[in-house]
Amino acid sequence: MPLDRPLSFRAPVRGVNAKAEQAFGVYVHWPFCLSKCPYCDFNSHVRREPIDEPRFLNAFAAEIAATAARVPGRTVSSIFFGGGTPSLMAPETVGGILDAIAQHWSVAPGAEVTLEANPTSVEAGRFRGYRAAGVDRVSLGVQALDDAALAGLGRLHTAREALDAVAIARSIFPRSSFDLIYARPGQTPQAWREELTRAIGEAAEHLSLYQLTIEQETPFAALYAAGKLAIPDEEAARALYDLTQEVCAAHGLPAYEISNHARPGAESRHNLLYWRAGEYAGIGPGAHGRLDVAGERRATATERRPETWLMRVENIGHGVVTDEPLTREERADEFLLMGLRLVEGVDPEQFRKLSGRPIDPARLADLRGNGFIAFTPDGRLRVTHAGFPILDAIVADLAA
Ligand SMILES: C[S@@+](CC[C@H](N)C(=O)[O-])C[C@H]1O[C@@H](n2cnc3c(N)ncnc32)[C@H](O)[C@@H]1O
Ligand code: SF4
Repeated sequence: MPLDRPLSFRAPVRGVNAKAEQAFGVYVHWPFCLSKCPYCDFNSHVRREPIDEPRFLNAFAAEIAATAARVPGRTVSSIFFGGGTPSLMAPETVGGILDAIAQHWSVAPGAEVTLEANPTSVEAGRFRGYRAAGVDRVSLGVQALDDAALAGLGRLHTAREALDAVAIARSIFPRSSFDLIYARPGQTPQAWREELTRAIGEAAEHLSLYQLTIEQETPFAALYAAGKLAIPDEEAARALYDLTQEVCAAHGLPAYEISNHARPGAESRHNLLYWRAGEYAGIGPGAHGRLDVAGERRATATERRPETWLMRVENIGHGVVTDEPLTREERADEFLLMGLRLVEGVDPEQFRKLSGRPIDPARLADLRGNGFIAFTPDGRLRVTHAGFPILDAIVADLAA
């Protein structure tokens, strides 16, 4: 889930009542892919040798046990297998990880269990295996519905194969979503309108629509720096963004977050937990967590390199390399940074409780006067459409 994407703000999220403070999520990172896409800076690795999945499963189970010992007694409301490409895992591995989670915490009835999948590795038999193991939601990396664009993104699948994967996912899982990347080189508004309209017709209930971002130290960054990759400029990207909002809203898939669109009630509960600053465990190589231990919110991160993480877990029982308490200020800033991505905005009173001070009324008045922020009738603070291009500046201003 890339984070730095443009914003859109509409009606508050409805139909999703799980309060962040009651929710507890488990993020599981599978760090392997069949090939590395040239735009991607996720913690994903390509290996020529087969992956020793039983060995990884043991390590995942050990790290789950170690984490549960730190935050016992939680009721898990959502689980997310992200990557990398979790759909390269055998269903037995996914099932074994879910068993380990259920062994150490209780899992709420109806907990959301999502698995990210790459169309290249979608196969009906394996998908049925995931479903039998307890996965109820799949998020597919479709990226584009245009074969030339897919080739340009270095993807190994065609648009037809991606749509076949979407159809398989929809036939096996009660819930599904897929990702598209827009503001691609040479993409015109008319072409994006047609592609998006087609995508909405294929989507069940949820779409993630990310603007192409040039991430540092990727092949795309090198091409871009060399002038060999032209992407839409700020104004053109903004126009594509506005178009995205218009088309999705007109088809009943309004934005509920900067890049995420859903039919009301079909929002990703796991991702909402992040944006609402809830508590979650990060399991596996390069996973981040936020744990409440002895009255403190702690930020955790594990070793990124899969083989080093594996050895670390085998030697000391977990792969955590960063484990730091957040100060009140850091926690409050994170609350604003994540929450203002949401259409529902944030409760300013919650900020006051976290930081020990209210948001500066003079700054609020200033930003409001400029039309960058607004208050909902129930007193929540949200960023307006005009404010979205400067979200980082707004957060920095409010947090200062
Ligand atoms: C971990 S990947 C999804 C699953 C799977 N690995 C795949 O690619 O099919 C998460 C999503 O992030 C998005 N993404 C990754 N890098 C991006 C970038 N530089 N700009 C925009 N979106 C990006 C893609 O849409 C991708 O589907
Ligand atoms: S398959 Fe997904 S995670 Fe892997 S490199 Fe491509 S975009 Fe990144």
